[in-house]
Amino acid sequence: MGKTYDLIILGGGPAGYFAAERAAEGGLSVCVFEERNLGGVCLNEGCIPTKSLLYSAKIFDNTRHGADYGVTAENVSLDHEKVLARKAKTVKSLVAGVAGALKRLKVDVIAERAQITGKTDGKFTVEAAGQTSTGDRLLIAAGSEAVLPPIPGLKEGFGSGFVLTSREALDIPAVPKELAVIGGGVIGLELANYFALAGSKVTVVEMLPEVGGSIDADVARILRGNLEKIGLTFLLSAKAKEIGDGFLIVASPDGTETKINADKILLSIGRRASTDGLGLEKIGVLTERGAVVTDPYLRTNVPGVWAAGDINGKSMLAHTAYREAMAAVNDILGKPDPVRYDAIPQVIYTMPEAAGVGETEKSAAEKGIAYEVHQLPLLYSGRYLAETGGGDGICKLLIEKGTRRLLGAHLIGNYASEIILSPAILVGSAWPADTLKKIVFPHPTVGEILRDVLLEVK
Ligand code: NAI
Repeated sequence: MGKTYDLIILGGGPAGYFAAERAAEGGLSVCVFEERNLGGVCLNEGCIPTKSLLYSAKIFDNTRHGADYGVTAENVSLDHEKVLARKAKTVKSLVAGVAGALKRLKVDVIAERAQITGKTDGKFTVEAAGQTSTGDRLLIAAGSEAVLPPIPGLKEGFGSGFVLTSREALDIPAVPKELAVIGGGVIGLELANYFALAGSKVTVVEMLPEVGGSIDADVARILRGNLEKIGLTFLLSAKAKEIGDGFLIVASPDGTETKINADKILLSIGRRASTDGLGLEKIGVLTERGAVVTDPYLRTNVPGVWAAGDINGKSMLAHTAYREAMAAVNDILGKPDPVRYDAIPQVIYTMPEAAGVGETEKSAAEKGIAYEVHQLPLLYSGRYLAETGGGDGICKLLIEKGTRRLLGAHLIGNYASEIILSPAILVGSAWPADTLKKIVFPHPTVGEILRDVLLEVK
C-alpha cells in the first residue's frame, strides 16, 4: 500500500510540477506521478528544446549575414549534432532544477504511469506499478499528445521512422535533405524554420488558406513571406492525402494532386488531451471531445478533482498551464481564484517572432465587437531599424469603439515574444487609450512602438 496525501497530481509537466510546488508551499502533502520526465512536453520535447535549436539557427543565420553589419566570418556552418548536444544540456539542467525544487519542498515524485482506480472512504485511490496511493484531492495534469489523423500510409511511416511528430523531430541525428511538414501551425512553423536554416528543403502543407492558426491575418501573411525568403515552400488550402515510401501526396480543393518527395515528414496538425487510460470513468469525471471539462476555477464535475493544463483543452500553452495550476491550488487552499482566458499571449518563435494577445480582427468581428485598427511598421522604432536594417515587421492594435480600451495587440518582428507582455497586461485592464498613451516606454526599444501606435488613436 502506498501513502496517503492531501493532493495527488497526475502528470509532472508545467501544470503538474507548478501545482505541486504551490500546494507544498501552501502546506499540503503532495505526490506527483510522472511516467516520462519531470517538466513534461514543454521542458523535454516542446518549448525549451525548440528555443534552444532556434537560437542556434539564429546565431548561424546572423553570422552568415554578418557582412551586412560589418562583421566578416568565413566558412560558417551549423553543426546539427552539436546543436542537439547543447539542447540536451539545457533540458537536463532545467529538468534537474524542477526535480530539485520538488525535493526541497518534500513533494513525493513517483516515476510511474498512474491510473485512478476509484474512491474509498472519501479518498481517491490511484494505482501505479501495483501500489495504491490515496489522496483527499486529485489534480489531473496529464497533458496532451500529437493528433494522428487517418492518412493512408501514416502508421507505416511512423513504424519506419519516415514520419515524425515534434517529439522525434527534435532528436533526429541528421538534418533531412528534404522535409515535408503537414500542418502550418505553431509547431510546424517553428520546426520548419529551424530545419530550413539548418539546410533542409522544406515544404509546408497547410489545409487552411493561411498559416499560423488563430494569429492575426496580416501577421501570418508577413511571417509566411519571411519564411519564403529563406527558402520554405508553402502549399496552402492543401490536405495531406497519402503517405508512401519517400513521398507525400497532397490534394488541393480543385482536385489536383501534388507529389512531394521527402526524406522525413513532420506531422504537426494539432494536439489532443491525453485522457486515455487515466481511469477518469472510475470516478465519473466528465470529458467533452476528449478533454476534461473544467470551470474557471479548474474544478471538474467531481468535487475534489481539478484538471489543469492541456488536459482540459482550453488553451494548450505552457503559460496557461502555469496560471491554471496556480488557480487550481488556490481553490484547493480555499482561496477561489478564477482564470481569465481573454488576455493569454500567443507567440510563434520563428524568425521573425510573431506574437499576439486578445482579440484579432476576425474574433472581434465574430463577436460583434465594434473596434478600430491602428497599425504602424516597426521601422518607426529606431532600435528595430538599427538592428534589422529594414524588416517588414508591424504592430497592430485593436481599440474598442466607445470604451477606447485595448482589445488586442499583434506584432511581428524581433523581440515580439518579450514585448507582448505589456499589451497582455493592458488588455487585461480596462484603461482607455488616453491613459495608455501616458505610459513611459524605455527608449530605444522596439516595444515603444506601442506608444507610437497608441498616439494614432485620436
Ligand atoms: P496547431 O493547431 O497550432 O496547428 C495545426 C495546423 O495543422 C493548423 O493550421 C491546421 O489547419 C493544420 N492541419 C490540420 N490537419 C491538416 C491536414 N490533414 N493537412 C494539412 N494541414 C492540416 O497545432 P500544432 O502546431 O501541432 O501545435 C500543437 C499545440 O502545441 C498547439 O496548441 C500550440 O499552441 C502548442 N504549441 C505552442 C507553441 C508556442 O506557444 N510557441 C510551440 C509549439 C506548440
